[in-house]
Amino acid sequence: MIHFNNAGCGLMARPVLQAMLDHLHLEAAIGGYEAHAARTAETADFHASLAELLNTRPGNIAFAASATHAYTKALSAIDFRPGDTILTTRNDFVSNQIAFLSLRKRHGVKIVHAPDHPDGSGVDVDAMAALMRAHRPRLVAATHVPTNSGLVQPVAEIGRHCRELDLLYLVDACQSVGQYPVDVEEIGCDLLTATCRKFLRGPRGSGFLYVSDRVLAAGHEPLHIDMHGARWVAPGYYRPVDTAARFEEWEFPYATVLGCAAAVRYALRVGPRAVARRTPALAARLRDQLAALPGVRTLDGGPAPAALVTFAIEGWQARPFKAALDARGVNSALSYREFAQYDFADKDVEWCLRLSPHYYNTEDEVDAVAAAVAELAGLAGSTR
Ligand SMILES: Cc1ncc(COP(=O)(O)O)c(C=O)c1O
Repeated sequence: MIHFNNAGCGLMARPVLQAMLDHLHLEAAIGGYEAHAARTAETADFHASLAELLNTRPGNIAFAASATHAYTKALSAIDFRPGDTILTTRNDFVSNQIAFLSLRKRHGVKIVHAPDHPDGSGVDVDAMAALMRAHRPRLVAATHVPTNSGLVQPVAEIGRHCRELDLLYLVDACQSVGQYPVDVEEIGCDLLTATCRKFLRGPRGSGFLYVSDRVLAAGHEPLHIDMHGARWVAPGYYRPVDTAARFEEWEFPYATVLGCAAAVRYALRVGPRAVARRTPALAARLRDQLAALPGVRTLDGGPAPAALVTFAIEGWQARPFKAALDARGVNSALSYREFAQYDFADKDVEWCLRLSPHYYNTEDEVDAVAAAVAELAGLAGSTR
């Protein structure tokens, strides 16, 4: 198979798999609690390695079971009141948008979407800043690279306005961590979420939350805090811990945590800048070839899209098209209108196919995948 579904899940590097297998063997041999006790330093490296990757401190990192888990934990720490505004973009991730809608249903918050820039480069930051001043939102939320296209949103520019106006800022960096250098200080965010399983090449069932010192000092805590995140210091009183561990739970999948630490160390060795040079460039090569095919429309906006190549193809239905690529040995993913209500309405598509290479893919693979799509574009209307 040619694995072009790294935006779904990257291939685990060998040290990642080894770290996980070793720990599972150790748990089976000596017991889960005892295995953890024997690997406390390695486990702590989950926080230390991510802190290094994101330019923060270990105490600002919390493990989570997924990016969405991290995101909803972060949202649960905000004391939304009726009439509060959440300011977001038209390209924020589907589950984030659903979470905002559920907050609207339960707490009566207002959801405001900043408009996109007419030049197709993503959110219009000036318009978003004007909305910040007009609404004084309780939360500003932006997704760095959405799941439904290769668009790279100007999260640091948004962050500068948030810092200037002292607004709480939550960034979804699920598709950008591991693909680009992501620096929480440069972005100016208060909270940032991602998974380890995509461009970081870690295991499934993992994610993390960055929590700024500002948020910790302000006393934000998740709605359901447990004995790991807080101390029960008196029968009627608990005290949250000082660090982002406040957002974690007591039970950890330690093999997964160790696999994540190995993945982050691996990414640091490969070098985020080197990855950022190669991975989007491979995608650009693919995008250029696809854009030249009759019946194919590439859909990624912005001056320098990420390694998520999305396109519509005439004469095919979604599932048969993906199945035809599967049959040609190409891993890909489908996105539907319900993943991107605003973006796909703007682009007037019901679905698209997403191809997402990573640095370990080759130029030859890119050319082979483009040839497979060219073949299928030629077959459109004749075989299905
Ligand atoms: C931009 C973005 N945010 C969040 C998520 C959700 O990640 P998870 O499945 O780990 O909850 C995804 C997953 O595809 C994503 O692409």
